[in-house]
Amino acid sequence: MQTNDSLKDIWELYGVKENPFSTSPILVIGGSIPIDSFVGRNEHIKRLSRIIASRGGSRTFIYGDIGIGKTSFVNVVRNSAFENGFFTHFKEITTQNKWEADELILNTLSAIYSTLKLLKEKPISDELYKKLESLFEIGRTSINAGISIGGLGGSYGSDQKATEKLTSFSLQDFFNEIIHDINTHTKKETIIHYNNLELVSEKKIRYLFDNLRDFFQTKGVHFIFIGNLTAYSILQSVPRFSSILSDTPFHIETLTYGEVEEIIKKRFEHLRISKDYNTIYPYTNDCLQVIYKLMEGNIRDILNSLSTAVFYATYESPILLDRNKLAKTLQEILEKRYLHVLTPKAKEVLSEVVKHNEITNKALSDKLKIPRSNISTYIRDLENAGCVYLRRKNGKDKFWKADPKIKWLSLKQSPQQALPF
Ligand SMILES: Nc1ncnc2c1ncn2[C@@H]1O[C@H](COP(=O)(O)OP(=O)(O)OP(=O)(O)O)[C@@H](O)[C@H]1O
Ligand SMILES: [Mg+2]
Repeated sequence: MQTNDSLKDIWELYGVKENPFSTSPILVIGGSIPIDSFVGRNEHIKRLSRIIASRGGSRTFIYGDIGIGKTSFVNVVRNSAFENGFFTHFKEITTQNKWEADELILNTLSAIYSTLKLLKEKPISDELYKKLESLFEIGRTSINAGISIGGLGGSYGSDQKATEKLTSFSLQDFFNEIIHDINTHTKKETIIHYNNLELVSEKKIRYLFDNLRDFFQTKGVHFIFIGNLTAYSILQSVPRFSSILSDTPFHIETLTYGEVEEIIKKRFEHLRISKDYNTIYPYTNDCLQVIYKLMEGNIRDILNSLSTAVFYATYESPILLDRNKLAKTLQEILEKRYLHVLTPKAKEVLSEVVKHNEITNKALSDKLKIPRSNISTYIRDLENAGCVYLRRKNGKDKFWKADPKIKWLSLKQSPQQALPF
């Protein structure tokens, strides 16, 4: 049989079991990226741990730029709380814009249930666990079918099914009961983590915090909300939200160069095929420094650039990227996968967008002397091609930002070569 070289795992060539540049977050439990490859943020870890350890419950908001390490940070703290007897759901809850207040509670209960299901020793009474089970196992179809779980608290007839009975008393009361029972069993408290608040509109945030004020103040629960910079500006304009926070928001900042170096080193160590083998690093120090600078320390963008370049350029033997080879490889990928479909005008707009942290259609139109309506067309093409994304909206103004990979264009190859535009 013919062997197909394309089916070989290239990471083996570097002496590791998996991609050491993976960009998935560190998980509370399991996952291929080990908890102990987490580096830095010691002050933040201490501060959040103290909040969680203080009895009664809390609400904390954590924010920072996209891909900076927010989810991993909270998961690392939750992991250590879990190891110390606190209850927390394993998978973070991704907040959704379409949720009504009851759905947020229901999804919170669902996250709790999914985790309890995995635990051999459940910190909850059989009776309550069965109630949860009936809500999600039998009830799943009726919930998905859109049966209203809204008008809670009404009386119900004896001919109703168990799930309908369960959903017709207050979900919030049920949540209280579950938490009380879990906390009695663990003698500790419960941590709930809502991720990516920026996916929810300002209007929806306002609505949720107006309607769930009591829910978010449930005794014995530590609520953690995560969002990017957009979510932070929403927080500031929704007093109902900011006023229930127990402490000032946590700002997650860029990791230092040394920390990034250490993260990759720890991952290589952990993913090493066997103690008897060496691992081979596919880049020079100089190359890592260049990419760190270019991506302004953003860990996700650094890992992603390295992963893409190594994956693309490796065939039958390991490669070593220096700053030239890095630039050449990434620019080739960019041209081949993204830029070649763009018209010269769209490229012109893109080369302006990439110069700014964020820019509006109006500013682009003024700078490039191109009518607003044409700018909209070019921007739409660039968005469809994955070259720009909407960073935030302010009233009618849309603020665009170039995708991080567009920055690859400004990597220098020596001797100096002409850039694609
Ligand atoms: N302090 C750290 N130590 C080790 N690895 C980290 C650290 N911070 C982040 N990472 C790694 O960087 C990548 C991005 O982190 P993460 O997904 O937590 O970022 P995020 O801010 O939640 O991103 P998003 O804005 O997309 O939600 C992940 O692969 C994660 O494992
Ligand atoms: Mg995240």
